[in-house]
Amino acid sequence: MDAKTLFDLSEKVAIVAGGSRGIGFAIAEGLASLGASIVVANSTPETGERAAAAIRTQGYEARAVPLDIRDRGSIEQMVAATLEAFGRIDILVNSVGIIRRGPIETVSEEDWDAMMDVNLRGAFLCCQIVGREMIARAQGKIINISSNVSQVLQPHRGVYAVTKAGLSHLTRVLALEWAPHHINVNAIAPAPTITDLNRKFFEDHPEDFKARTQSIPLGRLGIPQDYVGAAVFLASRASDFVTGQTYFVDGGSNLI
Ligand SMILES: NC(=O)c1ccc[n+]([C@@H]2O[C@H](COP(=O)([O-])OP(=O)(O)OC[C@H]3O[C@@H](n4cnc5c(N)ncnc54)[C@H](OP(=O)(O)O)[C@@H]3O)[C@@H](O)[C@H]2O)c1
Repeated sequence: MDAKTLFDLSEKVAIVAGGSRGIGFAIAEGLASLGASIVVANSTPETGERAAAAIRTQGYEARAVPLDIRDRGSIEQMVAATLEAFGRIDILVNSVGIIRRGPIETVSEEDWDAMMDVNLRGAFLCCQIVGREMIARAQGKIINISSNVSQVLQPHRGVYAVTKAGLSHLTRVLALEWAPHHINVNAIAPAPTITDLNRKFFEDHPEDFKARTQSIPLGRLGIPQDYVGAAVFLASRASDFVTGQTYFVDGGSNLI
């Protein structure tokens, strides 16, 4: 098989949860450019519609579907809307995530619950409900967006790191259980990347921005486009023999 065929995504349908902005949007654009039809699923209708329109403007197929990843019913509606529009789900990218920072001794239960509900419970529900569709068709690719803090710790991001370590381990659990159904489940672990998730925080905390930059051997923070290559690989036939992995796309931050 030639390499172009390996990476071809035409006829594929991809849900990108959290595809309205940041890393998820870059991945949605990347998958679309290789032929996938994209469902941008996120909580704010305006940002989702804007992202889908931006992808359509480039000549690709995309539509926006509302999603609150904390709500099982909302995920079920997202799946139903995708099946109604496109008839199948081949790829799920879960890029939804939130962060609340602070010293671990002062973290509130509310912050713990908020991050667990979105980053871990939400990702689990999304994988479970989409996974059932994939099991029925005995094929699928799931890509969870974890973080380098699943392994490399940074101060004042303790609970967030726990959610991401959980997400990477969930990825392994799902990969093992769903291997007999020919569903590949992998994760990408980005380094700190300037997006809406942290732009204001870095502006307000230049010392933290400097420390994060110094923690990356390649000498810079990530940009959303840095993750497109890994996502394309994990969404395509090229990764058919890869499952349960967390790929560190992190400028080498896990080396030190
Ligand atoms: N940026 C980094 O430094 C970094 C580093 C490592 C890992 N990550 C991870 O990468 C992923 C993407 O991060 P990002 O930086 O691209 O973040 P971002 O720009 O803030 O985008 C977050 C996305 O999640 C969606 N979202 C938030 N809460 C939701 C909910 N309850 N239900 C459905 N969608 C919801 C947002 O949709 P709306 O537009 O509707 O708000 C948006 O599409 C996250 O999992 C994050 O933890 C980020």
